[in-house]
Amino acid sequence: MYERPSIRRMTGYVPGEQPKGPAIKLNTNENPLAPSDTVIQALSEITPAMLQRYPDPQATKLRQAIADYHHCPLDQVIATNGSDELLRLAVSTFVDPGKAIGILNPGYHLYHVLAEIQNCPIARVNLEEDWLPPADLAKCWNDAGVRLAFIANPQAPSGLLLSRDQLAQLARDLEGVLVVDEAYIDFVDPSVAHDFAGEIGRHPNLLIARTLSKGHSLAGLRLGYALGAESLITPMLTKVRDSYNVDAIAQHLGCAAFNDMKRARASWQLVREERDRVARELGDLGIVTLPSQANFLLASIPSAFGDAQTLNALLASQGVHVRWFDVPRLRGRLRISIGTRAENDQLLSAIEASLVVRTRRAS
Ligand SMILES: Cc1ncc(COP(=O)(O)O)c(C=O)c1O
Repeated sequence: MYERPSIRRMTGYVPGEQPKGPAIKLNTNENPLAPSDTVIQALSEITPAMLQRYPDPQATKLRQAIADYHHCPLDQVIATNGSDELLRLAVSTFVDPGKAIGILNPGYHLYHVLAEIQNCPIARVNLEEDWLPPADLAKCWNDAGVRLAFIANPQAPSGLLLSRDQLAQLARDLEGVLVVDEAYIDFVDPSVAHDFAGEIGRHPNLLIARTLSKGHSLAGLRLGYALGAESLITPMLTKVRDSYNVDAIAQHLGCAAFNDMKRARASWQLVREERDRVARELGDLGIVTLPSQANFLLASIPSAFGDAQTLNALLASQGVHVRWFDVPRLRGRLRISIGTRAENDQLLSAIEASLVVRTRRAS
């Protein structure tokens, strides 16, 4: 009754289902391995006093650890309550209500939701047949008067990686702020030698969003951050952010995570190996996936399996949860997060079994 008309009209973000009881959970792109022992040890160091007092409002120690990791100055870093908070902060800081926000379609649905919350028109540009953005993307967004655009890299939900050159060109050509959302960047194959974070000094309009949810197995902690020119970071850090946006536990555990990258790096490698194996084995079953550099695969479900929605429900009934999106271009596909080897084996067996059942029914 009291909500703003634009809030009344909109639908909120729908997170992936959280199954009750034991399940193979491959529906929200979490890391299949537990966090590092160093982080678990840090958890045991939390004292009542740390909970009693407010944390450092600017999370300086944690930001310094992040700055050291990225070899950049402290004032080019902001820490946030998950990278979702950073995305919201960017909208509140850089886009007046009524001004356009650029997104790609299909893409991470939260971008759309954040634009609706701010009451901003959405300049939606469709991906091409090959799931890549069109060559005139910057022009499309500039023509629509975009003040800020979101682009995930690796892309979500395709997992495709845009090159450093493509993104640098986009940052140069775009007249607004460009947020490159690198939620899945840790899973990129090192042989690709992709490094876009080093570009922040070159583009005054570039923000790079990162998260510890995926690469560091800390989705439950809610810790993300952004890198960018000081002129972008400072207004978010000193004016728009909640007073204590990153809690004491997240600050302490975040420092520990950056102190010990060994476990995280091992998980990235496991995910890459399993990603390639699952893609291969799905291929053997006739299921084609896009070449993903993230910790998930977008799988095209052929008619031998029925439709993707039915297969999704069938897998869920067997305790294997993947993600089906009821939107154009994604209805015939499933997004499958990469799990442990054992979890992936169960996924593959369940998919194979569904094919056997259908073949038997048909004969
Ligand atoms: C593209 C993309 N960006 C950001 C996020 C959110 O990450 P966080 O847990 O840091 O809020 C997700 C989560 O799935 C995502 O897919």
